[in-house]
Amino acid sequence: MYNKNMNSYQGKSYNVITYGCQMNVHESEKIRGILSSLGMLETDSAENADVVIFNTCCIREGAEDRAYNNIMALKPIKEKNPNKIIVLCGCMPQQKKGKYNLKEKLPFVDIIIGTHNVNQLAQYLLKFAVTKKQIYDIVDKPTGALDVDNAIRDDNINAYVNIIYGCNKFCTYCIVPYVRGREQSRTPQEIYNEVKNLVQNEGYKFITLLGQNVNSYGKDLKEPTTFAELLTSLCEIEGDFKIKFMTSHPMDFGDDLIKVMKNEPKIAKALHLPVQSGSSKILARMNRHYDLKHYMSIIKKVKHAMPNISLSTDIIVGFPGETEKDFNLTLKLLKKVKFDQVFAFMYSKRSGTPAAEFEDQIDEKEKNIRVNKLLRLQKIIQKDQTKKFFKRTYNCLIRQINGVAVGITDGGKEIYIPNYKFINQNYFADVKIEDIRNHKLSGVVNDKR
Ligand code: SAH
Ligand code: SF4
Ligand code: F3S
Repeated sequence: MYNKNMNSYQGKSYNVITYGCQMNVHESEKIRGILSSLGMLETDSAENADVVIFNTCCIREGAEDRAYNNIMALKPIKEKNPNKIIVLCGCMPQQKKGKYNLKEKLPFVDIIIGTHNVNQLAQYLLKFAVTKKQIYDIVDKPTGALDVDNAIRDDNINAYVNIIYGCNKFCTYCIVPYVRGREQSRTPQEIYNEVKNLVQNEGYKFITLLGQNVNSYGKDLKEPTTFAELLTSLCEIEGDFKIKFMTSHPMDFGDDLIKVMKNEPKIAKALHLPVQSGSSKILARMNRHYDLKHYMSIIKKVKHAMPNISLSTDIIVGFPGETEKDFNLTLKLLKKVKFDQVFAFMYSKRSGTPAAEFEDQIDEKEKNIRVNKLLRLQKIIQKDQTKKFFKRTYNCLIRQINGVAVGITDGGKEIYIPNYKFINQNYFADVKIEDIRNHKLSGVVNDKR
C-alpha cells in the first residue's frame, strides 16, 4: 500500500476535464475531493496543471473522439514537461472494445483506469509517484464507491446525489450497462443523511438525485425500498429546498411516483422521461420494454396530475431499421406531447452492443437529415409553447442575476421580475406570469415573506 506519508502531490495543481452525463459530472466532483485530500489545488488550465484528469464518456462515437483528440493535444506539452501527470478514467477505458486502443495509442498517459476502480485514484497516484511507470488497470467489478463526503461541488445552488449506480436494462443500442455494471442502490439512510447535510448545512436549494434509471431504485437492497418511498422520506427533511431526479425509465414509472410528485411540494415539477422513438416497432428492437401506447398513457396521467409540469425527453434518430414511417411517428409524438425540451441524438454504433450487429443500419447522411428535421420541428413547438405560460403561476427559486430579480421554474425557465425589491435571494416563491415578449417571460411575485 502506498500511504500519504509518501505524498509528493502536496501543493501541486490539478485540472479535471469531464465528458458525459450528470453522473460523470458528479464523479468528477468526487475526484476533485480526492485530489484536494492529497493537498492539491485546482487550476482551470489543463496546459499548466501538474496533474490532468480526463473523466471520459463513450455513449456515442463523438464523445470518444472529443476526449481522444483533447488527450492527444496534450502530447506535445507532456513531451516538453515530462513531469506532468495525465490520468484517463471513466467509461471510455472501461469498454472491452472501444474505438481506440488506448494502451497502445496513449503511452504518454500515465494512469489509465476505469469506472470500477476510480475510487482508488489516490492510491494509483501515490504508486505512480514511486514507480514512474504507466499504470493500466481496468477491472470488471466495482471495488467500492467514490467517497461522497469530500466531494467538491461545481454549483452552489444545485447538488447532485447518486442514489443508484449501474444499469440492468440492456437497451440494444447502449454501452452503459457494459461500462457501469449492474444496478447497485445506496441505502435510504446514507442518501437521507447526505441530502440533509447538503440542505441544512450547505444551503443547497435543489438536490438532483442521480441514476441511469432512478425508478429501479431499491430493488436490490436487503430491505427493498421503492423510489417513491425514498422520495417521501427525503421530503421530510426540514428546509426550503426541492428535489429533482434523473433519469426515469418509462417501464418502471408507476402511479405511486406520480402521486408523490403531485402531493409533495418539495418535489420539483419537472420530469425527464426518455422515449427514444415514437414507433413501437423500433422501441421493441431497442429492448425498451414499453410501447408508444404505454408511454402516452404515462404522459397523460402526469399532465393530468400536474398541469404545470415541465417535460423533457431523449430521442435517438436513425436506429437500425428506422423507416421514414417510423421516423414520422416520432415527429407525430413530439407534436402531440409538446415537450419543453428534447435532446435528440443520431444513433451511434457501440461495439459490443446488440444493435451494432443489426444489418439494417441507416446511412449517416440520412440520420443527419432526420435529426435536423426533428430539431427544426421541436424549435417551432417550443416557441409556440411559450404561450402556455401566460397568466400561469409557477413556484420559482428567486435569484438575483446581473442585479435583476429572476424566478427560475422547476423546468429551468427564467421569469424576469421587474421592479422587485430584494431583501434576500435564493428562496422559493410563487411567480405569476403577466407578460410575454419575444419569448421572454416576466411576472410578479406572490411574496409571502
Ligand atoms: N439511462 C438513461 C439514459 C442514458 S444515456 C435512459 O435510459 O434514458 C443518455 C441518452 O443517450 C439516452 O437516453 C439515449 O437517447 C442516448 N444514447 C444512448 N446510447 C446511444 C447510442 N448508441 N447512440 C445514440 N444515442 C444514444
Ligand atoms: Fe442505457 Fe437503457 Fe440503461 Fe438507459 S436504461 S443507461 S439507455 S441501457
Ligand atoms: Fe457517458 Fe458513461 Fe454517462 S458512457 S453518458 S459518462 S455513464
